[in-house]
Amino acid sequence: MKRVLVTGALGQIGSELVPALRRHYGDDVVVASDIRLHRPDAATDEGHFELVDCTRSREIDAVVRRYDVGTVYHLAAVLSAVAEERPSFAWDVNMGGLYRVPEVARQHRLAVFFPSSIGAFGPSTPRDQTPQVTIQRPTTIYGISKVTGELLCDYSHRRFGVDSRGLRFPGLISAGALPGGGTTDYAVEIFHQAIRYRHYTCFLRPDSCLDMMYMPDAVRAMIELMEADPERLLNRNAFNVTAMSFTPAMLADEIRKHVPELRVDYEVDPVRQSIADSWPRSLDDSAACEEWGWKPHYDLESMTRDMIEQLGRRLHSVKQEGSRS
Ligand code: NAD
Ligand code: SER
Repeated sequence: MKRVLVTGALGQIGSELVPALRRHYGDDVVVASDIRLHRPDAATDEGHFELVDCTRSREIDAVVRRYDVGTVYHLAAVLSAVAEERPSFAWDVNMGGLYRVPEVARQHRLAVFFPSSIGAFGPSTPRDQTPQVTIQRPTTIYGISKVTGELLCDYSHRRFGVDSRGLRFPGLISAGALPGGGTTDYAVEIFHQAIRYRHYTCFLRPDSCLDMMYMPDAVRAMIELMEADPERLLNRNAFNVTAMSFTPAMLADEIRKHVPELRVDYEVDPVRQSIADSWPRSLDDSAACEEWGWKPHYDLESMTRDMIEQLGRRLHSVKQEGSRS
């Protein structure tokens, strides 16, 4: 079997996608890569790892040749909040990788997965049950790069026959690697702070409703889409996918079922609040359901229960290791 390359593999998604791909296809099949060094304790420890800057065609090309790669999951990017702080840097990373990965894919006839986002929509988009095909006028540099990614992947498929496929992810919640500087990061931070300190200061208003998904569903969606029958994929590069929709106040109430003492304060960050106010509250995922059978497994209640269990176990074992050393 040809190998699978993951760029940006040490981030929030990659650190769970890589082990899942290794379980699914075998350790030797998956090549994790990132611009920063592999941590020896990382979940990506078991197999191949390479330093690859996704903005350098030569580095991507060399790894593709060395490992006989057939599919690339192109995750490397700068997320929304960091991108608003450093727009020029975000442009270089997000746009640089976006052009070069499909170009290498064209030369080597690779399949490509591209993660778009609710960030590809803007304030003029309908915010509830956002349709699959609708107005896309994002007001962030991150969103501009995501719309461009969707269009470039469409282009590389139509013009050169590249097997590019993509999902518009909502905010992702996970118990593994911490999120890398997005607007939806509060929905992960609150769990860590609730378990450790019973207190969280949230940077979004309590009534900021956004579309969300638990990482096990997101990882399964990526693999299922890449294995789907190409004949059925009409919206191949930017499927809306969704699992749940909630506000910080609703999430805090759900966590209080497990951590009753949780106290939440609100200190609104105007930049991230204005980004959140421009994004969908919920997505219409009917195209993904019809074209490749998408169905989420986790809702707010089951995601919260699992996060508390996973994180509780993780933080407990870190504490035990700390007290032994
Ligand atoms: P992250 O910030 O956690 O990880 C990104 C990784 O990319 C990091 O490990 C970083 O070191 C690496 N990277 C940065 N510049 C690089 C470069 N030039 N070359 C190679 N690697 C580089 O991000 P994530 O949450 O894992 O997101 C992965 C992808 O999914 C991104 O494209 C993001 O826009 C998209 N996405 C994420 C979410 C979410 O909630 N996490 C939601 C929608 C879409
Ligand atoms: N979670 C991401 C962010 O907030 C959405 O793409 O940037």
